[in-house]
Amino acid sequence: MERLVVATTAVAHFFCIFLIFSVAKADGDFTGELNIHRRSPVNGLCAQLIAPSGYPCEEHTIQTKDGYLLGLQRVSSSGESFEGQRGFPVLLQHGLFMSGDAWFLDSIDQSLGFILADRGFDVWVGNVRGTRWSHGHTSLSEKDKEFWDWSWEELALYDLAEMIHFVNLVTNSKIFVVGHSQGTIMSLAAFTQPDIVKMVEAAALLCPISYLEHISAPFVHRIVNMHLDRVILAMGIHQLNFKSDVGAYILDSICDGHVDCNDLLTSITGENCCFNNSRVDFYLEYEPHPSSSKNLNHLFQMIRKGTFAKYDYGIWKNLKQYGQLKPPEFDLSRIPESLPLWMAYGGNDALADVMDVQHTLKDLQSKPELLYLEKYGHIDFLLSVNAKEDVFDSMIAFFKSWRRSSSI
Ligand SMILES: *[C@@H]1O[C@H](CO)[C@@H](O)[C@H](O)[C@H]1NC(C)=O
Repeated sequence: MERLVVATTAVAHFFCIFLIFSVAKADGDFTGELNIHRRSPVNGLCAQLIAPSGYPCEEHTIQTKDGYLLGLQRVSSSGESFEGQRGFPVLLQHGLFMSGDAWFLDSIDQSLGFILADRGFDVWVGNVRGTRWSHGHTSLSEKDKEFWDWSWEELALYDLAEMIHFVNLVTNSKIFVVGHSQGTIMSLAAFTQPDIVKMVEAAALLCPISYLEHISAPFVHRIVNMHLDRVILAMGIHQLNFKSDVGAYILDSICDGHVDCNDLLTSITGENCCFNNSRVDFYLEYEPHPSSSKNLNHLFQMIRKGTFAKYDYGIWKNLKQYGQLKPPEFDLSRIPESLPLWMAYGGNDALADVMDVQHTLKDLQSKPELLYLEKYGHIDFLLSVNAKEDVFDSMIAFFKSWRRSSSI
C-alpha cells in the first residue's frame, strides 16, 4: 500500500509538464465572450484551498469551442477587496496530472499563487479539461470515451486559448502567462498562433518542454518501451486516473519487480533537492488529477520520435485529418521575437532535459532570459521550500520589468 502511495505521488508529478495552445483566427473563434456563469463556491478550488488562507477568490466557468467547461479562479491579495485597483493579470497553467491547486499547495509565503497575489498581481488560475476543478461538458459525460478524446494539442489550442481570451476580455489587458511542465508545452504550442500570442504580454516557463527526445527518467523509458500508452488504449481505457482501482492496478503492474517504486518520484522526475517530504500526504489529497490516455500516447510519440508536432494518427488518418502523411509540427520560430520569455530549468530534471531545453532555445527567434539551477529537479520548481528565493523572485522581477515598459 505504501509503495502504491509513493507510486501514485510520483506519477502525479510525472507529467506535470505542459501548457497550452494555439487556436485561432478571429475573436469569433472563441466562445468565451460573456458566456460565463459563477459556480457554486462550496466544492470549488477557492473554497477548498485558497479562501481558507484569507485570500479573496472568485470562481468562473468558461466554455471551450469543443464544449468543455473549465473552472478558472481569480485570486487577489488578502485584505484587499475586489473593488480596489487590480494589478496586472497573470494566468497560471499547471502541468500533467495536476491542476490549479498545484500553485497553492505550500504555505502562503512559499506558494507562487499566494506570492503573486501578495505582490499585487491579478492572479488567474487555469484548470484543464478532465481535472477535478474543470469537470463538465455541454453534452458529454466523463463516462463517454469521447469525453477523453484529446491530448495536449487541444489543451493548448482550445483550453489555454479560451482561458487567455477570457482573462484578456475581462481585464481588458494583455496578460502574463506562467506555465510548468505540460503547461509549457501548451504555452509554446499556443504562442505559435498569432491570434493567441497577441493577447500575451510576456511568459515565464518552469521546466520548459517542447522536445522530449532526451528524457532521462528510467521509469518513463520503461513505460515507453512497454508501450503502456498503446496497451491501455487497446484495453479500452480512455481516462487515466491513478486514484481509481484501474489506475492503481496499472501502476502496480509497472512497478512489479522492474522499477524501484519506493523511489518512483526520483525515477520519474529526477532527484528533487528541496521539496518538503512531510507534506506529501497533503499533496496527495489533491494530486494526481485525471488526464486522458490519448494525451499520454501523444507525449510518448514525442519521446519516440523527437518531434514537437500534432497528434500522429498513422498515415491514413493523418492524410484525412491533416492532408499529409505526417502530423504538422509546431514551428517554434513562429513565436514572435518580440514576446518576452523567461525560462527556469534544472540540472537534475529528468523530464525537461537540458539538451531538449537547448533544442527549444535554438528554434526560437528570441533569446529568453534563463535561470539554471543545477540541483533542481522537476518538482522543485513548483514545490521547493526555497523556490521563492531561488526562482519566483527572479520571475517576478522579470514581469515587473516588462510591466513598466508596457502601455497599460
Ligand atoms: C514541511 O511541512 C511540515 C508539515 O506541513 C511543516 O510543519 C514544516 O514547516 C515544513 N517545512 C518547511 C521548511 O517548510
